[in-house]
Order: sequence, then C-alpha cells, then structure tokens
Amino acid sequence: MSHGPRTRVAVVGAGPAGLLLARLLHLHSIDCVVLESRGRGYVEQRQRAGILEQSTVDVLRRAGAADRLEREGLPHDGIELRFAGRRHRLDFPALTGGRRVWVYAQTEVVKDLIALQLADGPPLVFEAPVHAVEGAQDGGCTVRYTHGGRERALTCDWVVGCDGFHGVVRDAVPAPARQVHERVYPYAWLGILADAPPVHDELIYAHSPRGFALASMRSPAVSRLYLQVPVGTEPGTWPDERIWDELDVRFGAHADWRLTRGPVTQKAVLPMRSSVTEPMRYGRVLLAGDAAHIVPPTGAKGLNLAVSDVTVLARAFAHLHETGSATLLDTYSDDCLGRVWRAEHFSYFMTTTLHTAPGQSSFDTRLQLSQLERVAASPHAAAELAENYTGAPLPGEG
Ligand code: PHB
Repeated sequence: MSHGPRTRVAVVGAGPAGLLLARLLHLHSIDCVVLESRGRGYVEQRQRAGILEQSTVDVLRRAGAADRLEREGLPHDGIELRFAGRRHRLDFPALTGGRRVWVYAQTEVVKDLIALQLADGPPLVFEAPVHAVEGAQDGGCTVRYTHGGRERALTCDWVVGCDGFHGVVRDAVPAPARQVHERVYPYAWLGILADAPPVHDELIYAHSPRGFALASMRSPAVSRLYLQVPVGTEPGTWPDERIWDELDVRFGAHADWRLTRGPVTQKAVLPMRSSVTEPMRYGRVLLAGDAAHIVPPTGAKGLNLAVSDVTVLARAFAHLHETGSATLLDTYSDDCLGRVWRAEHFSYFMTTTLHTAPGQSSFDTRLQLSQLERVAASPHAAAELAENYTGAPLPGEG
C-alpha cells in the first residue's frame, strides 16, 4: 500500500497554517503535498477572526500573498476600550514604536492562498480525509487517506499537522509523549456578520455589567459584531432585533449611543478555550497552528500564531534542504513555544478582564475595572497591552 506517490513534506490541513507553509516551502523549492478533508467551498467560507499583526502582514508580503490585502485590508492604529462609562483609545504606533494591525478576514487570507497554490503551487487535494499517520519514529512516514472513494497512501519524510484543534495528526504522537495544558471558559460568543457600516473606524472592546461585546468590521459596509452569551446558547434564541438591542446596551450602557442596524447575514456561537500541546514535534511529525494550540478569540491571536509557527518551520525545512542539518527542526518546538505562551497569556488576560463569568462576585468585577483603569492611566500598562496586541517581530525580522 505504501508504494504510491511520495513527497518531502505532507501537510495535513488547508487552513492558513497549511496553505502558508506550502507556499513558503514552494518558494524554497521543497516538495510538498497538502491534503484537506473538506471541500474548497467549505474551507473558503469558514469564519474566523480578522486581525493581522504587523509581522503576519510582512510574512504574507514576502510570500507574495498580499496583493489583495494591500488593496482591501484596513490598517488600524488603535482600539477603543469601553468600561464603567469611559471610552479609552490605545494608540498603537505611539505605544509600540510604530507597530499597527490590519483588519482583513482570515477567510480572505485563505482564499488568496488557495488561489495562489492552485495557480502555481504544490498539489492541494480537497476532500481527502487523513485517517492515520505511521512511522513518526522511523526513516520515513506514511499518511493514509481517502480520496475519490479510494484508500490511498502518501509516503514522505515529514508530516506537518495543520489540521486544527480536532485534527488527527496529533494522534500520531503517543499520549505519554505529549502534555496538554487547557482552560475552558464559562461563556461563549455569539458572532454576527451584518450588512451595516461599522459603528466606529476602530475596533471597540466593551466591558459591561451584562457581559462583553466587541465591534469589529470586514469592510466599510460590513460589520462583524460579538456578544458574550452563556455556554450552550442556540443562535436561534437570538433574533436579530434582540442582538441589536443588546449590543446597544452593552456598548452604550452609560451613554446615549446606537449602532447602525442592517440585515444579519450570518450568526454563530463560538466556544472559548485555551489549549497548548507540548512538544510541537514528535520524530517526523510536527504540529502547527490550532493543531498545537488554540486561544479564545478575544485577542485575535489564532491566525497570527499559525503564521509565526509555519514561518519558523519553513525556515527550519529550508535550512535542512540547503545544509543537510536538521538542527532547526530539533529546536522548532522550543523556538515556537515562547511566543505561543505569550499569546496564550495575552488572550487569557483579555478574556478574563473583559468578560463577566456566571455568578461573578462584585470583588472580581472591581478587580477587572481596576485593571482597565490601570491601562487607561499608565502609559506603561497601555504599552504592554499594545505590544501584545500588535505582536512582537518574528525572529530574523527587523
Ligand atoms: C474579528 O473581526 O472577527 C475579530 C476582531 C478582534 C478580535 C476577535 C475577532 O479580538
């Protein structure tokens, strides 16, 4: 069975991690094949956050994948925090020595990378679910998958799991060889897309006695809005008018303030969880992006971490390809985990500072407000938040 096609690197999953890795490997003339369990339509519609760090944009530019991002992405130089009747703006370039973020949806990044790969990239196979990865500790690996109703096998030197939190590649790492660190939050987000102009030209993160709310955007005509809701909420229990009313209350709890309403085109409930699997490498199997770690969406770090993982990984493969030395693959996990844990902490901090847990005491609420006051009053605390939000430069970046 394992005499079929072979490649250097089998990439499992065509989300941003897998697609960008394939692009970077292609630019280094390293052979790879991408296997994706779902169809192209599904992958291109999957809604995720929409904030790109400065270094994510720089990597996409270097990968030749930023043409549409340059035209349609919205550079943002700050965010607004709302709490206790106050509005406080954080000025990112001033606080970070010039760093900013871009609003450009993850789905658009995925569409751009798929178009590039189908035009001139390595093979990308949709509807090809992987069931098993064998040989992690041997001289080479076999990836077993189904495609077109047939069982198939791909032999390779390395397998990279970019197949998300529910992916199968992680299972190639025996349980005793991995540690999972996890935190589940006692609330969820209801996210909507609406054909309504954004209420403000920057994102608004609101702490309110009724729970968290976030106003983001997809374009000058499309708003992306989120409300904290109880775990297990059915989106159907939130008719559009109820969502708009609740958003108005949470953003304007202390002022006369209204959103511009418009048709709601999508509605979904998202769970909130933090999780890290260590190490990110086991023999010939490597994990990247959500397959290795997830964050709650509050800090919009998921895509950015996926990009930093595969940037480090592509450099390690290029080093192996050019020099024959696997030293950078040996340090891959350690090289990534510092940044991963920083983003985990930041996402946890944003989440727990801004949400109201069920049964939360007034003491805990006062601590949250004291923390937000501190960010508003201290340039040092504001710079800490802004640096985390805009993200550190990647290794080797200026
Ligand atoms: C989004 O636009 O979807 C978004 C933005 C910022 C976040 C989370 C999600 O923190």
